[in-house]
Amino acid sequence: MSRTLSLHDAGLALADPSAYADEGRLHAALSLLRREAPVHRVEAPGYNPFWAITRHADIMEIERDNKLFLSAPRTLLSTAEMDLLQAQQREQGMELRTLVHMDDPQHRVVRAIGADWFRPKAMRAMQARIDELARQYVDRMAELGGECDFVQQIAVHYPLYVILSLLGLPESDFPRMLRLTQELFGSQDEELRRGESPQEQMNTLFEFFDYFNALTAARRANPTDDLASAIANAVVDGGPLSDVDTASYYVIVATAGHDTTSATISGGLHALIENPDQLWRLKDDPALLPLATDEMIRWVTPVKEFMRTAAADTEIRGVPVAKGESVLLSYPSANRDEEVFDDPFRFDVGRDPNRHLAFGFGVHYCLGAALARMEIQALYRELLPRLRSVELAGVPRRTATTFVGGLKHLPVRYVLE
Ligand code: HEM
Repeated sequence: MSRTLSLHDAGLALADPSAYADEGRLHAALSLLRREAPVHRVEAPGYNPFWAITRHADIMEIERDNKLFLSAPRTLLSTAEMDLLQAQQREQGMELRTLVHMDDPQHRVVRAIGADWFRPKAMRAMQARIDELARQYVDRMAELGGECDFVQQIAVHYPLYVILSLLGLPESDFPRMLRLTQELFGSQDEELRRGESPQEQMNTLFEFFDYFNALTAARRANPTDDLASAIANAVVDGGPLSDVDTASYYVIVATAGHDTTSATISGGLHALIENPDQLWRLKDDPALLPLATDEMIRWVTPVKEFMRTAAADTEIRGVPVAKGESVLLSYPSANRDEEVFDDPFRFDVGRDPNRHLAFGFGVHYCLGAALARMEIQALYRELLPRLRSVELAGVPRRTATTFVGGLKHLPVRYVLE
């Protein structure tokens, strides 16, 4: 397949949402880049140029050096039109500025506000609620009578309920949050997005802001024991966070903790269906679940990229990168790197070691990694012992995206106890 693929076309795949909906096409492109041009300049129509970084070692090196490679101003790949709109919003003080967009020293201070809520003690406090939700969703699978769209009916709901419980939001608001997070992350997918123009997509963001500004006011008036109160009442440099920074914090928690985990849960089930020997191995030996969870995370790699911008002229693997140029860190590529993973295209529930970069690396390392692992394990701990059989009941479909995604439909037929 890759014989006819040029390096130029392989680079373009990284800026093409439809390439991510076709794993074969994506991985043919990434494998070629890793082998022949691991630091490759991409000039895609409609996008500002960037360097595609596809090797595991290079991505770690760049993330480790957070003084040379900054998250601002180009944190994610978006179209040149969207980059411009965001620059205008920055000037007006209206930009979404979350942890992933910030650099030190501000990043360190702001990350500390939420960090306690993701430490082992807080996670232990969440375990009972997560187990209860996992049981509810497996029960729901049973109620659905042996056939469902596992993504739309199970996997997108369960992690959202976990994250909104952690934030402390009322259950009556959960459907609205589901719609907003799907629109925000599905903005490149025709089925999920709200509208085509950047302005229509910005409206999703503004609706988030309205909702969260009301939440900030409520938690400042009546603080409660939840993450939303910790964010609303945080003191930085002697004062509270601005409304935009507070709302941005909620947005990153609500969105980062949602589609990522649901994509891993559904992609994990798909991998188990495609590899029945691994499904039975895991059912027979539940002690493998922690390793299987990380293998699902590596396999799916729901976050497709983050970007960094060089603060000074430098070199990566001997290729000169000028001050102000951007690099795109391709996590799906790092997680299939032949130099790091033995037989990287094999799904192995006992893979050990598994040094995947799906949670990133360095100062921005995913704040919710322990929570994500807990959620995935809780669902499979409940599901696997009750599962007699499972098979595809239709064609799985993936989200068109260059940022966060995975399966959007997984029709399955199963027998559950
Ligand atoms: C399988 C699920 C998940 C994956 C694959 C994932 C992946 C990532 C990645 C790649 C980053 C950026 C890391 C970097 O730049 O080095 C990140 C950051 C982050 N994630 Fe996750 N994530 C997941 C689940 C969660 C959950 C459940 C939460 C809970 C709220 C969460 C919250 C965050 C936050 C707040 C950040 C920003 C950290 C920072 O910039 O300091 N994530 N995640």
